[in-house]
Amino acid sequence: MNSDTPGAIPHGEDAVSLLTGQHRRLEALLKALVDSEDGGERNALLSQAGDELAVHISAEEQVFYPAVRALRTEDILLESLEEHLSLKRLLADLLELSPGEETFAPKCKVLEEQARHHHEEEEEHLFPAVRRRMDASDLQRLGRAVHEHEAGLQAAGRPREDVRNQTDAAAPLT
Ligand SMILES: [Fe+2]
Ligand SMILES: [Fe+2]
Repeated sequence: MNSDTPGAIPHGEDAVSLLTGQHRRLEALLKALVDSEDGGERNALLSQAGDELAVHISAEEQVFYPAVRALRTEDILLESLEEHLSLKRLLADLLELSPGEETFAPKCKVLEEQARHHHEEEEEHLFPAVRRRMDASDLQRLGRAVHEHEAGLQAAGRPREDVRNQTDAAAPLT
């Protein structure tokens, strides 16, 4: 879309491109966390990856999934919400551990593997369906809504802490 088009969002990234880019960044952060053997570095990487993962999941659950629910994606979304629950539980567990504890490294590895698997599922099944069924301008508007939601959470500070209260059950499909 040309940014001069009336109603267009200049320089906006569409929602699928934005979320896909975040998948690659999260995978790189989690890989660095798995590869790190230094306690201070592990803490810093867990904080950063945890904040970005929490923000990404929240934007999908609160903004992206509700917006694409009508596009015959319900089964995929329900499975995705269960995968989010598993990721949030792992992250909440990790926030309770210190990097020197025996279970820290294996839990990081499982988080990294599960995040990668979940991203593959979204990119193979959900995102192509959304691209087929939503027009470009709506996808771009949705990208801006995702971005605004995420910026609000980052501005509020320490978004990773929010997952501690979200480990009982999967978020509802709204
Ligand atoms: Fe997701
Ligand atoms: Fe995602």
